[in-house]
Amino acid sequence: MAFTYRFATEADVDAIVAIEVASMSSPWNKDNYLEAINSDHAFIMVAADGDNIAGFAVFYLTPPECELPDIVVAESYRKRGVGKSLMNEAIRQLKAHKVDTIFLEVRVSNTAAQALYSRIGFEEIGKRKYFYSDPIEDAICMSLHLEE
Ligand SMILES: CC(C)(COP(=O)(O)OP(=O)(O)OC[C@H]1O[C@@H](n2cnc3c(N)ncnc32)[C@H](O)[C@@H]1OP(=O)(O)O)[C@@H](O)C(=O)NCCC(=O)NCCS
Repeated sequence: MAFTYRFATEADVDAIVAIEVASMSSPWNKDNYLEAINSDHAFIMVAADGDNIAGFAVFYLTPPECELPDIVVAESYRKRGVGKSLMNEAIRQLKAHKVDTIFLEVRVSNTAAQALYSRIGFEEIGKRKYFYSDPIEDAICMSLHLEE
């Protein structure tokens, strides 16, 4: 199946929120996504399967660094390479924005996300105790240096 990778628009926000709410214990709300879409210092990359949104990833840009606070693939689309392609498409855009390093945090129990990040080349740079609530859990901090 061919997915299209593009920047999110306001028209995508309801679908993004539905995926987020179904997947995350402390979900972002509609305003969080609208703010990212309308900011000069953020973007949301979406994977579209025709009219359906299969997944999305949010990036906050502070060149030469950026933060990946939220990436979700809808459950029915997981383990088909969508997360990896979302990241690779976003990395192309980040390089154009003069970003050379991505930072993120991930729950220690979230082995699926850790597998995705490791596959792309992220490395562990530290841990944050009790970083998450609902449930309380430590975070692994990871970073990826983008090659020129
Ligand atoms: C993490 C997430 C985005 C991965 O998306 P995805 O589209 O399923 O990932 P991909 O299919 O691109 O897989 C990327 C790699 O991770 C591996 N992987 C993905 N899910 C996995 C799992 N549950 N267990 C083990 N490995 C897994 C894949 O095998 C693949 O490795 P490969 O290239 O060696 O085959 C998805 O599981 C998700 O949305 N989870 C809920 C939200 C979440 O936890 N977000 C991250 C918050 S930090």
